[in-house]
Amino acid sequence: MFEALEMAPPDPILGITEAFKKDPKPGKINLSIGVYCDENGKTPVFNSVKKAEQRILADEKTKNYVSPNSGTVEYCAAVQGLLFGAGHEAIASKRCATAHTPGGTGALRVAADFIKFLKPDAKVWLSEPTWPNHPSIFAASGIPTAAYPYYDAEGKKLNFGPLLDALKKVPAGDFVLLHGCCHNPTGMDPTVDEWNAIAEVAKAQGWVPLFDFAYQGLADGLAEDARCLTPFVASGREVYVCSSFSKNFGLYNERVGALTLVADSETSAQKALSHLKRIIRTNYSNPPAHGSNIVTTILNDPALRAEWESEVKGMRDRIAGMRQVFVDTLKAKGVKQDFSFLTKQKGMFSFSGLTKAHVDALKEKYGIYIVGSGRINVAGMTPSNMDALGSAIAEVLK
Ligand code: LMR
Repeated sequence: MFEALEMAPPDPILGITEAFKKDPKPGKINLSIGVYCDENGKTPVFNSVKKAEQRILADEKTKNYVSPNSGTVEYCAAVQGLLFGAGHEAIASKRCATAHTPGGTGALRVAADFIKFLKPDAKVWLSEPTWPNHPSIFAASGIPTAAYPYYDAEGKKLNFGPLLDALKKVPAGDFVLLHGCCHNPTGMDPTVDEWNAIAEVAKAQGWVPLFDFAYQGLADGLAEDARCLTPFVASGREVYVCSSFSKNFGLYNERVGALTLVADSETSAQKALSHLKRIIRTNYSNPPAHGSNIVTTILNDPALRAEWESEVKGMRDRIAGMRQVFVDTLKAKGVKQDFSFLTKQKGMFSFSGLTKAHVDALKEKYGIYIVGSGRINVAGMTPSNMDALGSAIAEVLK
């Protein structure tokens, strides 16, 4: 049976790292997958995480299942506090329900299965462009997707007018996927005023906001980045938030994230949660505990939390610094095009405007791997690979 199969195409992001590993070129550089590297090109375990793990290891008494299978009370409360701020009205009135999921992708898939059950005819609207896994996740749950304009490639900015016009036409009951911050792949986020305007449209039209919030803390700050949620949650209407601790805790391979539903009342939230538990049970039964224990330990311990917050700030500052150095390096290498727009983008990714031909040439000639859309992981740039990277890009742009 397997013999008759066609090979599946490689994943547009994960497949690049597989190809990178096989490339024998010395000095090769992987700027594809969104993984943070320090200035030595390493992806270290956070100090706060190591300390939490030591504590967990010493205190651990059981490997029993996580109960309930939607996540412990402590973890879910910690997630909600980070998203909305401790004591927020939506938390106090118990109209939030959180399910612990394996990573942000797990949260998106549980959300997709729930949407398919709740609104079998709904569509999910995705920004153009978006993370290449988004359409695949919704397709896997049998949900059709459509696109709304997002990025002005010519002006190198958010295409806000057309974006808002398109969202004014999304029918009631459909879902609009919004990237909470550090839009993947463009790095261009709406301003606070623009978020308010989008929330107004959601309310007027009756579509449901579905946030993919995988980079909290990497744009302007932990609380600052969560401002995108504020006007939607204040409306009292339903909001879906898929959050991840892969990047902001560096817990990539622990697979820890959450789906948080904000409802109009505690009763509605509890009803929705009962279905999330059912969906989880038939998917993977029970979430993995280690990552969530780390997150809960850190967020509930003032000293560890302060250390973690400063580690997140360190990442954010290093990425912003590299962004500027990258722009300066391209200029110093004689690149004619103005790349200063890259400093306006937020988070790990630079949407460079490099074409598929440039991307291929960087890979073939220099062993420099970036995503086919021209997305470059700035968090993989270091003082020691910058010179070679700048020279190679200057060469392919000639
Ligand atoms: C990315 O876009 O590179 C990250 O979100 C990692 C992934 O799983 O694709």
